[in-house]
Amino acid sequence: MSLLTHPHARELTKSVRATVLVFKDPRSQELLNRIERLAPSEANALIIGETGTGKELVARHIHHLSRRSKAPFVAVNCGAFPESLVESELFGHEKGAFTGATSSKAGWFEAANGGTLFLDEIGDLPLNMQVKLLRVLQEREVVRLGSRTPIPIDVRLVAATNVNLADAVVAGHFREDLFYRLHVATIRLPPLRERPGDILPLAEFFVNEHCQRLGYQRATLSPEAERKLLTHSWPGNIRELENAIHHALLVCRNQQVQPGDLQLADMRPSLGRAEPLASLPVASEASLEAALAALYEKNLPELYEHIEETIFRTAYRFCHGNQLQTGRLLGISRNIVRARLEKIGELEPSVRGAGLLSTG
Ligand SMILES: Nc1ncnc2c1ncn2[C@@H]1O[C@H](COP(=O)(O)OP(=O)(O)O)[C@@H](O)[C@H]1O
Ligand SMILES: [Mg+2]
Repeated sequence: MSLLTHPHARELTKSVRATVLVFKDPRSQELLNRIERLAPSEANALIIGETGTGKELVARHIHHLSRRSKAPFVAVNCGAFPESLVESELFGHEKGAFTGATSSKAGWFEAANGGTLFLDEIGDLPLNMQVKLLRVLQEREVVRLGSRTPIPIDVRLVAATNVNLADAVVAGHFREDLFYRLHVATIRLPPLRERPGDILPLAEFFVNEHCQRLGYQRATLSPEAERKLLTHSWPGNIRELENAIHHALLVCRNQQVQPGDLQLADMRPSLGRAEPLASLPVASEASLEAALAALYEKNLPELYEHIEETIFRTAYRFCHGNQLQTGRLLGISRNIVRARLEKIGELEPSVRGAGLLSTG
């Protein structure tokens, strides 16, 4: 079995989420077997993998296969809250517990009661919160901030990390006792480049998925495009693949994706590639990749539009409002530049003929 339907994945998240999980490569199948064996147990689990390898998806799948599947699955990114808020977010607070606590509020543990709590980026949890988390796991109860009454909780914890927690323990950023508590059942998600048998099945899956969403006719990948996908190193893993396919569908012609439609930027210096990006200094390429990866992590709505808008706006300003130069800088026609600038509100929509006058 390699394709699984995930009935509720769509309602549960805001971004495009797979309703089908692709596990074709032998390594992934092995992994899937392990997940299926672990899921029905009540053991807490730790999922380890680079960004975009499917950690959250696997956590949802574990929940789905457990006896808790009808109860809530709550996903929390530990790095998303300022340190001062983590405690009340996780464990809740009573009215008046701190300035601004105008009403009492349940934390994520209570919200997940009976179900599964997914703590993403657990390595980002401040040390003092790690102590409290450990206590909650041991006592199986939470105490809201500003309260003394413990509330019993029945939560299975699935944590995820993209940093090596053992190194973090050595460096003093992560508590050893919590590490061992979480380390009972570990699931390592290999990076996409180490499970090449997944690349084309995933690509095809995303082609169909996004064609449907965009209301496009079914598109295909040309054999050359497939080869390009297979030779890329995928530093952003499955998320990067999904974004590359999404973008390719927007620009491809005749419902067929060609290699030129696939914009793949490699963080490592590329060997003998003639694409313009390869001549960029590696450092700026890497920081661009890193900035984008940080945005992908946030799961923003309409991210592609947002990035495109930023490119046009900043390039236009860099060229002091000159459309022709903006086009040259970006290597695209001035007409495209003008159309995009209008769309993003940097220019008044052109009335017929007005284009002749506006040389700016
Ligand atoms: N096995 C898979 N089959 C289909 N889609 C997947 C699979 N694994 C991950 N994805 C998709 O890839 C994207 C990144 O997965 P996610 O779980 O958010 O990764 P992570 O939490 O490791 O950064 C999501 O859109 C997810 O739906
Ligand atoms: Mg994630």
